Amino acid sequence: MKNFLSIESATVAELHAILALATEMKATRGHHAAHPLRHQCWALLFAKSSTRTRVSFEVGIRELGGDVLFLNASEIQLGRGEPIKDTARVLGRMVHGAVIRTFAQSDVDDFAKYSGIPTVNALTDGEHPCQIIADLQTIQEKLGGYAGKVVTFIGDGACNMPASWLWAASKLEFELRIAAPRAFQPAPEVIARAFPVVKTPAPVDGDAQAVYENARGGRLIVTENLDAAATGADVLYTDVWVSMGKEDEAAYRAAQFARYQIDTALVAKAKPGALVLHCLPAYRGKEITEEVLEAHADTIFTQAENRLHAQKAILSLLARGG
Ligand code: CP
Ligand code: NVA
Repeated sequence: MKNFLSIESATVAELHAILALATEMKATRGHHAAHPLRHQCWALLFAKSSTRTRVSFEVGIRELGGDVLFLNASEIQLGRGEPIKDTARVLGRMVHGAVIRTFAQSDVDDFAKYSGIPTVNALTDGEHPCQIIADLQTIQEKLGGYAGKVVTFIGDGACNMPASWLWAASKLEFELRIAAPRAFQPAPEVIARAFPVVKTPAPVDGDAQAVYENARGGRLIVTENLDAAATGADVLYTDVWVSMGKEDEAAYRAAQFARYQIDTALVAKAKPGALVLHCLPAYRGKEITEEVLEAHADTIFTQAENRLHAQKAILSLLARGG
């Protein structure tokens, strides 16, 4: 594996290899046989806030024997207009790998292209692929696997998290349901790339659902009907209503998403023992209630912890280059 830029660009074999190694990383933490980042320095280049991603990468790189350099995008010349391709060509001659959190997916793709060093997407407006690996690892641990399961994403269906989920469902054979207001459903061109077969066309009536399938056995349902999407689900998943960079739309979004909340009544519609997952940070009283978050805190914070193990797997595979 040369880069980890998106779930869309990752192969099924790479996703399986990362998940298998993530389990091993968790089991062997503190006594790893190999330190693949020894004598390497990796840059973390962040243009957005972060707690989990920054800490898990900084700790993970060190645990793999490497050194790490945190660069706030606004404090380097990038923030004063130096192009990403020039920044990439400079860093590519000095550091051994880069982990980038920014706005445009094309900036991460360009960084990888111009730097020539292993590059990881630590969140863009398009995808959050590292989060998905930790989420799948958590589902695997708690439910024994993800194949054939039903994962229901609730809330802003047009942001980075559901986009990465959509690609995961298209590659890893589970059913993804996205419950979101019509104006916040995934872009049709993204759906068309991941799920070329439309079983039931996108509805005009908001309450009906669109069902998409692909040749690999992946299945996607997009609907405004929250109750139908939650019924019988193995996993209920949510994310913030206001993603980073969308702060100006906070009031509009609060009104649009008001009924797209995971509360106790919604959890009762899912399968008995269903997981509730949240990529965090959580806004209680908005996308999830305090009661549900606290009742499922063990799973949700295991999910956060798994960022460390999952990303150490990604870094190790990048260091191997294959
Ligand atoms: N889930 C996640 O990426 O968290 P941070 O924004 O804190 O890194
Ligand atoms: N959709 C959120 C994810 C945060 C981890 C955002 O982009 O802010």
